[in-house]
Amino acid sequence: MNKWAAAGIFDANFLCVCVLGDPQAVKLAREMGNQMKLTHCVNGFVDSEEDLPDYGQLGCGGFIVLDGDHRAISKATSAFMEVRDLAFHHVEAILAAVTAGKPPPAVCPGEYCRLEVAPDGQEKFQGEPGICKAVKDGLLTISLLGRRSRGKNVQVPPSAVRKINQDGSYADGKPEIVDVDVEAGGGDSSAGNCDPEQATMDGRWTTTGAVMVIKDMQITYPSGRVAPLEIAESSGCGFQVGYHYKVWVAGKVYMAKSEPGKLTWSDGSVWQLQEADHGLDEAFLQRTLGQMTSTKVQDMDDEHEECAEVLHQLAALRSQASIVAVEACLAEHFSHEEALFDEFGFGEHKNEKLSAKKTHIADHNRILAKIRQSIAEGEKRLAGVGHWRVPAPLIKEVIQDFHEHSARYDVQYSDVVNAGLAAKQSCAPQVQNKPIIDQVSCTKVGG
Ligand SMILES: [Fe+2]
Ligand SMILES: [Fe+2]
Repeated sequence: MNKWAAAGIFDANFLCVCVLGDPQAVKLAREMGNQMKLTHCVNGFVDSEEDLPDYGQLGCGGFIVLDGDHRAISKATSAFMEVRDLAFHHVEAILAAVTAGKPPPAVCPGEYCRLEVAPDGQEKFQGEPGICKAVKDGLLTISLLGRRSRGKNVQVPPSAVRKINQDGSYADGKPEIVDVDVEAGGGDSSAGNCDPEQATMDGRWTTTGAVMVIKDMQITYPSGRVAPLEIAESSGCGFQVGYHYKVWVAGKVYMAKSEPGKLTWSDGSVWQLQEADHGLDEAFLQRTLGQMTSTKVQDMDDEHEECAEVLHQLAALRSQASIVAVEACLAEHFSHEEALFDEFGFGEHKNEKLSAKKTHIADHNRILAKIRQSIAEGEKRLAGVGHWRVPAPLIKEVIQDFHEHSARYDVQYSDVVNAGLAAKQSCAPQVQNKPIIDQVSCTKVGG
């Protein structure tokens, strides 16, 4: 917000308002202004309950945009909590239109939609869900989120899409289900699924320096020769990990055994899958898990280290067991934090939408829901057979989410929780050495 105000691109005023609704608001607003170096936007506060607005949310839940007559153009733009940086592009798209005297775009960056009319040549994406990434020259760039289309971008006019809610229901109320996120390809392909597009071995495979590309049931050799690949016989649908298959390659029959990231052929050659560059490299892990912001609450910092450790394991193994361990570790840590919020009254507000505690817990739930959906989908597709690898983009997202959550949300409870712990310890010296979660509560604070 301060950057927008400083840049002067939009003919608009930018207001940051502390909505604590009690006399502490002015102090909190000052602290916020200093911390965030708010030198260009207007920084204000509401210090009494009766002056609080009757709608709105904290900034991470979306911005309020008013027109020149202070009528609401948007009561809540996309939530940063859900769509990250696209939330800012949503605001920019509205401001660019409105300050130019135009109506806001029908679909803005950060908003979900369904492709009702696919572009020519991309008819297979008809009906796929997506999220708007950009609006330019009257065209929307939609990043598709369906099972078969995830990661693909299409450019379409606004008339080709229809807005949907994040759960896949149409924004106008008609129920619909969003396709789920499953990574295709890579020799560990999904089993229990007879759709050849899903039972894929797509990827780059290497053996003795040569690189073969398998795509859409065709092998392309280094010479450029293309050979059709057929499933002649298998015990299930498509390629399953740990199973033997008979395949036809360029008129000859070979047996192939598929294992995670590996194909062993009957002529003795072994092909290894070249991992696509999903960015799960050491530099990324160091930048995120290696640089966790301290909460200044020792037990919580220790738990962050434990969470970082299981996330490291997940990045290395990408196995079902490792994502299940991540779910368990994060769920336990989040419940410990939430117990501290309850105990010391962190972030409570009469208006739930303005409660820092509620938005914090919502971010916990968002991260856990993403992990749990991935586990459920993996188990469903696997149908109890073979191994299952967790999609690398999902792992990257979860690591990024955990890192950002601790830097943006967890740092907020430091003062309240530490003050509460200090007060508690001063009146319960006999339990000083016990972990804080196990300590008995002390009714007289500050005694
Ligand atoms: Fe945390
Ligand atoms: Fe947290």
